[in-house]
Amino acid sequence: MIALTVNGSPQEVDLPGDMPLLWALREGLNLTGTKFGCGIASCGACTVLVDGVAEKSCQVALSDAAGKSITTIEGLGAPGALHALQAAWVKAQVAQCGYCQSGQIMRAAGLLAETPDPSDAEIDAAMESNLCRCGTYPRIRAAIKDAAQQMKGL
Ligand code: FES
Ligand code: FES
Repeated sequence: MIALTVNGSPQEVDLPGDMPLLWALREGLNLTGTKFGCGIASCGACTVLVDGVAEKSCQVALSDAAGKSITTIEGLGAPGALHALQAAWVKAQVAQCGYCQSGQIMRAAGLLAETPDPSDAEIDAAMESNLCRCGTYPRIRAAIKDAAQQMKGL
C-alpha cells in the first residue's frame, strides 16, 4: 500500500511503486481529468501539482509520490466552485478540443503559486513545456493574466 493525499483526501493505493503517478490517478483512483498524451515528458497533458509544484505525472513514480499532496484538475477549485483559473478559462473560451487543457490549467496553477503576477515572458517560459495541438496559446496567456488579476483581488 502506498499512502498519499489526493485533492485533500488521504488515499492508500495498492499498485506497483514503479507505476507512473498518472496511471495511479487514472486507473487506481478514477481521476480521469489528468490526461495521457505521450508518456515521455514531451506534452504536459499529464500535469498535476505535487506538493504545490507542477509536475508531469507520467514522469513521477507512484513510490516517489508517497506521503505527498497531489492536486489534480478535479481538486483545483473549492468544492462546488471553479478556481479563478478555471473561471478565466471559461470566460476566454480557451479550449478547443480540450485534451491538453487540464494539464495547461495545472501548469498555470503552479506558475501562479510561485509568481502571482507573471509577465508575458514568465507565462511563456512556464507554459512552454505544455503543448496544444489546437494552438490555444494566446488565449491561455490571456486567461492566466485575467486569473492573476482576479486572485490579487481576493
Ligand atoms: S503524458 Fe506526460 S508529458 Fe505527455
Ligand atoms: S485544446 Fe486541443 S490540444 Fe489543446
